[in-house]
Amino acid sequence: MAWTREQRYRKYSSWSPQLVAALEKQAAASSFKPGYHISPRSGLLNDPNGFSYFNGQWHVFYQSFPFGPVHGLKSWVHCVSTDLVSWQNLGLALEPSNQYDSHGAYSGSALNVDDRLFLAYTGNVRSADWQRTSYQNGAWLDQNNHLVKCPSPLIVPPDHVTEHFRDPQLLKHGKTYYILAGAQDKESRRGQFSWFKSVDLKNWQDCGYLKQPWDDLGFMVECPNLVFVDGSPVLVFCPQGLKRKQLDYQNIYPNTYSIGTAFSFETGSFTASPASLTNLDEGFDVYASQTFNAPNGQVYLISWIGLPEIEYPTDRENWAHCLSLVKELHVEAGQIVQTPVAAQSKLQTNSVALTPAVRQNGVQVVKKNAGQQYQLELKITADQQGCLLLAGDSEHHQGLRLSFDTGETGRFTVDRGFAGTSFAAKYGTTRNCVLPAHHELTLNIFIDHSVCEIFLNGGRKVFTLRYFAPQENTEIAFIGENELKYSGKYSQLKNM
Ligand code: FRU
Repeated sequence: MAWTREQRYRKYSSWSPQLVAALEKQAAASSFKPGYHISPRSGLLNDPNGFSYFNGQWHVFYQSFPFGPVHGLKSWVHCVSTDLVSWQNLGLALEPSNQYDSHGAYSGSALNVDDRLFLAYTGNVRSADWQRTSYQNGAWLDQNNHLVKCPSPLIVPPDHVTEHFRDPQLLKHGKTYYILAGAQDKESRRGQFSWFKSVDLKNWQDCGYLKQPWDDLGFMVECPNLVFVDGSPVLVFCPQGLKRKQLDYQNIYPNTYSIGTAFSFETGSFTASPASLTNLDEGFDVYASQTFNAPNGQVYLISWIGLPEIEYPTDRENWAHCLSLVKELHVEAGQIVQTPVAAQSKLQTNSVALTPAVRQNGVQVVKKNAGQQYQLELKITADQQGCLLLAGDSEHHQGLRLSFDTGETGRFTVDRGFAGTSFAAKYGTTRNCVLPAHHELTLNIFIDHSVCEIFLNGGRKVFTLRYFAPQENTEIAFIGENELKYSGKYSQLKNM
């Protein structure tokens, strides 16, 4: 299929159900298809949207182009869960249908209002000469998951923004509603956070840009979120084109956060040190994370495991990407700590305790035939250097290499350069972080076919990545120079 503009923006009704059924079959048969992560039935998935709790269930939607592995005419697909672990896909919920969203129902959020869920999303509209207008639109979801769009946009683009104006986050403070949206300023062509308020969800007042500490966030801010974590205001967002001297990152675009010292809804100001900008994830593939303050007092976060403008090996199988596990957020020692929700352990089965394996021919085999869906919890004592191989072949040449030094230099590196099909190599095959010196290292690793999520030291650092290894490569082993002391647990994980 040649993905011309015409193909990407065809009406959904013009695609044949047989083609969609064939795409679903092809995706389901893929050895890379995750078993306990939300992934598309067919075509491409990107951002999580409308992450919320409503009507006794957790809800998350995802950006979808169901007809191929490309970014085309986007819609929202609806998933629900009672435990944030097992998700049921209810199918297409929000489809482009009118003059305010004709070229895509782009990202947005949800807020529980009385007995309905209010959705705010970006309507992407193109003129005949392909000029873009971005509206912020509304829709209501009732308790039967029936969705009705608001007849006119909540917000038409203010004069001071360009066509890059999207991803509204709905917030409520006191009796007032707010929208935080990503924008590009017309004059400076720099990324900004747009700030609006409303008392009735119908009339929205433009309050200009959020006051914040950064002079230059690149050319566009995508997917902004404001949450309150353990009492601190936190901004989570994706600054496109951020200078690497401002923040060290290797991915095409970073997903960042900043912990502020104060936030004022009234004046729309986020107070923080400019130096507080931090990478949310140390891995290769996290973007467009969405987070919200849940009614149970927790703060939950879910991410797209994928990046814009990067080709992935499953494109050849006509599907692409997945969402991350749901993570709980806390602030500790001025940093965000992310942990998988406690209920995640429900999927564990056939757990075995791990004790140090005998080293033979330079290798300590942790688990042969580890399979494609498992969780590995390891404790590696201080002052050791080594390399943990995941998805290894029997010769231990191929696999994901996790190197660590828990001694003086304190360092952790993930290398996916030997783990199978190469992709996005232009952005490097390694990612790393500093570890505390002379300190024990704990690893909580989730493997799901082609997904790897690594939580270090109780979630103080997280590495999220895709890798595409031959199906038969399933060995876990320590392959470093030294015989290692460790303990841990291996569990198979069931489908969600
Ligand atoms: C981020 C993003 C959003 C936009 C959506 C479109 O990945 O570009 O800014 O709303 O994807 O699918």
